[in-house]
This record gives sequence, C-alpha cells and structure tokens, in this order.
Amino acid sequence: MSEETIDALIDAARDAASRAYAPYSGFHVGAALLLKDGSVVTGANVENASYGLTLCAETAAIAKIANEGWIGELAEVAIVGGRPDGDALIGSDPVNPCGRCRQILNEAAERSKTDILVHCASGDGNAVKSYRLSELLPAAFGPKDLGLID
Ligand code: THU
Repeated sequence: MSEETIDALIDAARDAASRAYAPYSGFHVGAALLLKDGSVVTGANVENASYGLTLCAETAAIAKIANEGWIGELAEVAIVGGRPDGDALIGSDPVNPCGRCRQILNEAAERSKTDILVHCASGDGNAVKSYRLSELLPAAFGPKDLGLID
C-alpha cells in the first residue's frame, strides 16, 4: 500500500474520531477499515455511563462490516486517537489497539485470509507505526481453531 493510501486511511480514521462519543475519558478514537474492494468503513468509540460497557472504535467498525456481510473482506486498518482540541486531536504517541480489539480484528482477518496491516497513528498525525496483526496478537485463537476455516 502506498504512503498516500495509508495517509488517506488515517485521515478517514481521524474523521471518524470526530464522531466519538467519549464524554467520560475525553479520549477520541477512530478506526478505518479498508476492504478488499477499496471501500472504507469507519467507527469511533462509544462510551457509556456504566464505563465497562464502552465500545472501542475498532469494535464499532468491525460490527458495521459484519452486519453488512463483509467480515471476510478486510484488507488493512488504521487507528487514530487523542484528546480533541477544536477540530484537531492532541497526542504525539501512536494509539495501539487494546487487547479485546486485537481479538476482534483477528476474527475478520482470519475470515479474510489476510495477516492485515494495522496502522497506528498519533492524534497529531506526526507518528505512525504499522504492524502485522500477527505481531500484535501472536498465536491467536480464532475460527481456524474451531475448524471453521483452513
Ligand atoms: N479505545 C478505543 O476505542 N480503542 C482502543 O483500542 C483503545 C481504547 C477507547 C475506549 C475508551 O472510550 C477510550 O479509548 C479510553 O480508553
């Protein structure tokens, strides 16, 4: 994937973060999923007064593609997070996906038969670190362990 395409995916994640519902943490996260056909589906975190019920951005985005029947179409992911300052996000460190989101991304990655790239970007956009999902979640448990796919 070219630098420009990665930047476009990060921009889509940043746009999604602007729609985060995060009144408790004040930390806005956006996730952008690139599908094999080139389309992009996004999600943002959705918090809850019962804090532990919070939905992460990646989870919200994966739920969207699963509900459209596209769980086996995932190609790459970008994640951006930070604290809002007007239209911008503050934060100089790339945001890493939480453990639960790694597992949820793995479900779609295995179904897509792709060791997806996950681009983690800082709120200020100056730092990006890219990983294979297998680096973030080695020896994953997934649908292949249940004999559902090869
Ligand atoms: N968050 C995400 O949306 N994705 C992650 O992978 C890490 C954390 C959200 C959850 C919560 O709303 C806020 O970031 C602070 O933890």
